[in-house]
Amino acid sequence: PEFISVANLGAALGVRLNVFLGELEELGFENITKDNILTGETAALVAQEYGFEPTVEMGEDEDLKPRPPPKDPSSLPLRPPVVTIMGHVDHGKTTLLDYLRKSSIVDQEHGGITQHIGAFSVKMSTGKQITFLDTPGHAAFLTMRQRGADVTDMVILVVAADDSVKPQTLEALKHARSSKVPIIVAINKVDKESANVNRVKSDLAAHGVEIEDYGGDVQVVCVSGKTGQGMDDLEENILLLAEMLDIRAEPDGMAEGWVLESSIKPIGRVATVLVKRGTLRAGDYIVAGTVHTKIRSLRNEAGVEVDEAPPGTAVEILGWKDPPDAGDMILQAPNEDKAKIATRYRQELKERTEAIQQQTQMEQAKRDKA
Ligand code: GTP
Ligand code: MG
Repeated sequence: PEFISVANLGAALGVRLNVFLGELEELGFENITKDNILTGETAALVAQEYGFEPTVEMGEDEDLKPRPPPKDPSSLPLRPPVVTIMGHVDHGKTTLLDYLRKSSIVDQEHGGITQHIGAFSVKMSTGKQITFLDTPGHAAFLTMRQRGADVTDMVILVVAADDSVKPQTLEALKHARSSKVPIIVAINKVDKESANVNRVKSDLAAHGVEIEDYGGDVQVVCVSGKTGQGMDDLEENILLLAEMLDIRAEPDGMAEGWVLESSIKPIGRVATVLVKRGTLRAGDYIVAGTVHTKIRSLRNEAGVEVDEAPPGTAVEILGWKDPPDAGDMILQAPNEDKAKIATRYRQELKERTEAIQQQTQMEQAKRDKA
């Protein structure tokens, strides 16, 4: 509502009316009665005094929203697992990813140019697909988690066999635990002379990781991103875990996903997007934060144009006039009008929320002075 009476606001905040009136006077409202009408902005300021976060309601809600979760997920088709690689600096995350990418069928088929991209989907030698995400230290990942996004299905915790558990290993563990996703441990660099696999295992156990060697159910795979040792095992473990998790999504309906990265390339503005539901195709209208676009084209990690991006795959999307922010949710709109209206609504909401915050800060400053 744009306006609210003092009586109704007091009730909404759960404060007895006579107490509320007294407190309003203390806040500087003069001769206030229960019938006084406050504007939405003023009401928000008062609400903030009571520890509420101000949000503004506007006229008709013209925003796009994600669909409700599926009623019976078990009847949906399987989708590729989304796997995030985490671990301490220099423990070999990128090397492992590069190895997986090079050994994938896609690369051999198209001979595409390998470029650095933080997310990609590959078809394994078994024909099964896996989507890998790098760069988890990313602010975008934190943003997505705060928004309750279940971006990843599992975490590969990379620990170098010659360095063992380090601060960022523990940080990664914390992330995995708070997002409640299962982990697979990849002990990397086992080709090195100084490798000490047992030390890594006991260090992990000491930090509460229930690894299989100690009777737990966390798989541990010894690998080398340099020689390729153990990489088939790692793939197999990922696919086995995915099978157990029974990861399914609807390939049709309005698509939903997340912006993982956003950048400017010679071909224009590009966003790397992870599709979670539905399928994105060229010509589709999508909204991300306060921007929208018609998809010009989709490309895989090898820079090869693809026709569509089904659930569980990561693609680059071209065609943005304004760049979306990493961490933003992507929602498909049924048509251009709906996309425009939704972004206009979001823009307005953003401006009004900012205005209220500014006003609140000014009032606070005034009160601090007084
Ligand atoms: P950041 O992205 O900086 O956190 O590092 P990262 O975890 O991605 O590590 P990266 O893959 O860049 O590897 C770091 C160094 O370790 C590089 O010099 C790699 O060549 C080396 N390296 C990675 N994996 C292995 C391995 O299995 N064996 C050996 N001997 N060296 C490796
Ligand atoms: Mg790296």
